[in-house]
Amino acid sequence: MASELIFRGHESQQTPDTYSPKPNKPWLSIIRPVRYILREQRLIFTLLGILIATLFFSFLPTHPGPTHPSGPTTTHLSTTSSFPSSPQRDFFADKFVNSGGKIPLGLKTKGLRIVVTGGAGFVGSHLVDRLMARGDSVIVVDNFFTGRKENVMHHFGNPRFEMIRHDVVEPLLLEVDQIYHLACPASPGSHYLLLESLILVYKTNVVGTLNMLGLAKRIGARFLLTSTSEVYGDPLQHPQVETYWGNVNPIGVRSCYDEGKRTAETLTMDYHRGAGVEVRIARIFNTYGPRMCIDDGRVVSNFVAQALRKEPLTVYGDGKQTRSFQYVSDLVEGLMRLMEGEHVGPFNLGNPGEFTMLELAQVVQETIDPNAKIEFRPNTEDDPHKRKPDITKAKDLLGWEPKVPLRKGLPLMVSDFRQRVFGDQKEDGATTA
Ligand SMILES: NC(=O)c1ccc[n+]([C@@H]2O[C@H](COP(=O)([O-])OP(=O)(O)OC[C@H]3O[C@@H](n4cnc5c(N)ncnc54)[C@H](O)[C@@H]3O)[C@@H](O)[C@H]2O)c1
Repeated sequence: MASELIFRGHESQQTPDTYSPKPNKPWLSIIRPVRYILREQRLIFTLLGILIATLFFSFLPTHPGPTHPSGPTTTHLSTTSSFPSSPQRDFFADKFVNSGGKIPLGLKTKGLRIVVTGGAGFVGSHLVDRLMARGDSVIVVDNFFTGRKENVMHHFGNPRFEMIRHDVVEPLLLEVDQIYHLACPASPGSHYLLLESLILVYKTNVVGTLNMLGLAKRIGARFLLTSTSEVYGDPLQHPQVETYWGNVNPIGVRSCYDEGKRTAETLTMDYHRGAGVEVRIARIFNTYGPRMCIDDGRVVSNFVAQALRKEPLTVYGDGKQTRSFQYVSDLVEGLMRLMEGEHVGPFNLGNPGEFTMLELAQVVQETIDPNAKIEFRPNTEDDPHKRKPDITKAKDLLGWEPKVPLRKGLPLMVSDFRQRVFGDQKEDGATTA
């Protein structure tokens, strides 16, 4: 008998005509997760998670530091746009975050992007050396008015170093974390006799500073101005504290420098108060060291070059006017501490050790040529009688004070001058003392 397979499945199957879907219960899709969350203290954990995430994202630094020499840093933009920031934000930013270039020691993993205007000059080139040694990416902006390419040539070829020939009187767009604004011919050399040069000094201080402050505002960079002890003019207070407003001749032969720097300070504070730009102001007192211009009229370079050339040391007036002399490595340390610190300033950065011009001439004689003669000349107009910084503020707030005494610093400068005066350019000037 042939087997007979009989399919009976169709008996239990529903025909499409008889299909009736379950009623839709939309509230179930809400109730289910709620029930799930309420079970076994999951709600507490969820709330805790939200709280932690909120705290984390409100304090998270948007940008830990520069990564590329030309890209914008969001930290800067956010730091600036939120100015004045909440105390909580300030606390966190000050303690843990790169806030406008301030990197707490130990947390810094990558270098900053820094522009140094006037970086091919005497002070600027030593500052560049320190920043490069720290691992930062440095852009030097200089028009070589008084600076020299040779001062920074040893960094050529380093991918972290760039050099732009540019006059800061013209606007410039760069994206950096910090701006050290040094561009300005510092010395009362012969260029102070030409009207074009006088105007250039003034324009550099005023228009140049405006341009760099505008840049700092735009990109949220921290800005440091290198001002000068000349803002005190011929001081009636001795030593000079930062709260002293000075005694400056507004129509003197060097007023373009003194008044230019005073205006630069004013602009810096205006941008700070009015636009929230993070600024720092250093008032630099006489500084000396390798790479100073040889013939720019500054007293230390004058004496050293004259002694080396076997010329008489020219002392202006009776030689009893006093100055204090700071070795360049001390200044660079002070500038960097100021930039990285929390205080706007102004800060006097100088060596309080006070010397008369005659005493300085003696130290030069002892160091270079005991037989060097001294020649007296009539004093120059507006030459201050006394200059000595009170550095209490820098000591207290920056933990800074100069370390190199004149008798130790001068020989370090002499070897560099000897090479340049006698045309031997083989060695590079050392900063360290
Ligand atoms: N050396 C000191 O004793 C001393 C004292 C007080 C203040 N300062 C200040 O420190 C800063 C550096 O001084 P320094 O002794 O190195 O002087 P410096 O003359 O050696 O250097 C100044 C640099 O700025 C450049 N520069 C000038 N005008 C410029 C412009 N318009 N655009 C671009 N670059 C320009 C110069 O070419 C030079 O490289 C200056 O602002 C100066 O006023 C120095």
